[in-house]
Amino acid sequence: MQMPPQASSPRTTEPQDPAWPRANRVISVPDFELDERLTPEQVDFLETYGFIRFKRFIPRARAQELYQSVLEIDAALVQKGADQLNGVPLIFGKRADGTRYVQRIPFASLQHPALHEFLQDRRFRGIIETAGPGYRIGEDERDGMVINRFRNEPGAKYKRLGWHTDSLRDVFYLEKPRRYLNVGFYFTDSPLEVGGLRVLPCTHHQPISSMMTRKAHFLDDRPDPYELAIVAEAGDLTIHDGRMWHRTALATVQGDASERCVSYLPLMDGPIKRKHEGSATPFYFHLKSLVGY
Ligand SMILES: [Fe+2]
Repeated sequence: MQMPPQASSPRTTEPQDPAWPRANRVISVPDFELDERLTPEQVDFLETYGFIRFKRFIPRARAQELYQSVLEIDAALVQKGADQLNGVPLIFGKRADGTRYVQRIPFASLQHPALHEFLQDRRFRGIIETAGPGYRIGEDERDGMVINRFRNEPGAKYKRLGWHTDSLRDVFYLEKPRRYLNVGFYFTDSPLEVGGLRVLPCTHHQPISSMMTRKAHFLDDRPDPYELAIVAEAGDLTIHDGRMWHRTALATVQGDASERCVSYLPLMDGPIKRKHEGSATPFYFHLKSLVGY
């Protein structure tokens, strides 16, 4: 069995280290654990800061098994020569040895039974309740369960993501910006060295005007003096409010050691708009391709 990549260099684990953002020395990210549903304290944390992290949502060994499933999907898509799924473009990268891999896999839970089964975990019900009444996991809506594999190497297209709010997507899907909880599950370790999620805490409370204009969506990827780094291990789960400013930082390590494999779940409400093989590519992706993603 191919083991998931691990950062090989010594890890920068202490926020006292100057490599960490200042905010990490002030706001400690608690090691919450998720039971049937979020506790009042956990809801308070999420509502106040706009994010929360749950340690050991599933054991590391099971996360590694799920990572194998991701590699199986990847191998099948590469072999098939697919370039899109349900109208959503696939993003490919190339390793140093020239082999291709998929960096952004949409509708992942429809492509492997192990991932579909993972989404049946009863604790997702608790998360859905937190999102609000009437929410569901839209496995075949929008982009479905998306798996991102960020890697730092010359052949990678997806190395990082500039500052953005997920609300821009609502505008392009012709829906008004609303609360959107982004549930991230970590298949691999995400220490500071592999880059990863950086957020501006509390900006989910901002008015729509600054949501749209505070930074240039996706183009600006400079560290922000007030950003907070969210690190995680394989098996952890995070939730962040899509209205807050966030980015995915570039890894400081290279190649296999830089791989960061995380999935995002579509928590949807409102009318169901299912995607299918004949679905058209949303304009949003044309915009993203203009900025190189
Ligand atoms: Fe995002």
